[in-house]
Amino acid sequence: MKGIILAGGSGTRLMPLTTTTSKQLLPVYNKPLVYYPLSVLMLAGIRDILLISAPDQLPGFRNLLGDGSGLGIRLHYAPQPTPRGLADALIIGREFVGGAQVCLILGDNIFYGHELPMILREEIAKLDGCTVFGYPVADPERYGVALLDSAKQLIGLEEKPTRPHSNLAITGLYFYDNEALRYAAELTPSARGELEITDLNRRFLAEGRARLVYLGRGTAWLDTGTPDSLLEAGLFVQMLEKRQGVQIACLEEVAYRMGYIGARGLEELIRRAGPSSERGRYLARLLETAG
Ligand code: G1P
Repeated sequence: MKGIILAGGSGTRLMPLTTTTSKQLLPVYNKPLVYYPLSVLMLAGIRDILLISAPDQLPGFRNLLGDGSGLGIRLHYAPQPTPRGLADALIIGREFVGGAQVCLILGDNIFYGHELPMILREEIAKLDGCTVFGYPVADPERYGVALLDSAKQLIGLEEKPTRPHSNLAITGLYFYDNEALRYAAELTPSARGELEITDLNRRFLAEGRARLVYLGRGTAWLDTGTPDSLLEAGLFVQMLEKRQGVQIACLEEVAYRMGYIGARGLEELIRRAGPSSERGRYLARLLETAG
């Protein structure tokens, strides 16, 4: 399975923070926002990843992440000239994905949960059509929303409904088999002028090939769309990291634990991080204890 991170959008609700910087490069506590979705892909076992962003923002991502080789992954970059919607990522990424399955993750979605990597790997193994992840929220009208029947089966998907039929928001993480590329190319823009991911998912649903996975209390799915939610996400990460002494979305650690790099690779990353920096010391401890 290949991965796509869509780090587009103009981040209007975060102006002036996003006037010169992409939203996904803004800090969430001690690391850029894009680290969080990237770590999710890496934890799911996905190592071939395309990052899509506005043409003028791509150099920032490239400077930050490079070609991924230090982390034992392959990172590619592609521009999205205009923000044409989430499903556009599958059109831009067509050649990159080739004949593979694909996971699309939004560059501003933060997921956290002990069991999440295992859930994702299990879902990849049984993927047929599309798999979406639902998360109960207090304000479903801001998201794609799932409609379930009395047996809790997925029967409908709505994009930002004024009167939501459930409180189950569809998160910005999607698994697709290869047909999604063709279906995305056949989509027509919605009333807001975008190629809607919800329309794509509906097509799979109409075929009886859309699966909803419920992410319950054991998982946190955080929003970062407004100054308040961005700050709250940072405070959440800070609280967990300080309390537990472990880092969330530490790409070097994920690469090492997943076996994408060995001790040598980690030593090199420690050197690059600066052995006396907080991150360098954290990674050195990891090497000592896990190595
Ligand atoms: C998009 C999707 C929506 C989904 C949300 C998750 O919304 O259209 O279905 O619930 O991402 O973050 P947007 O970011 O376009 O408002």
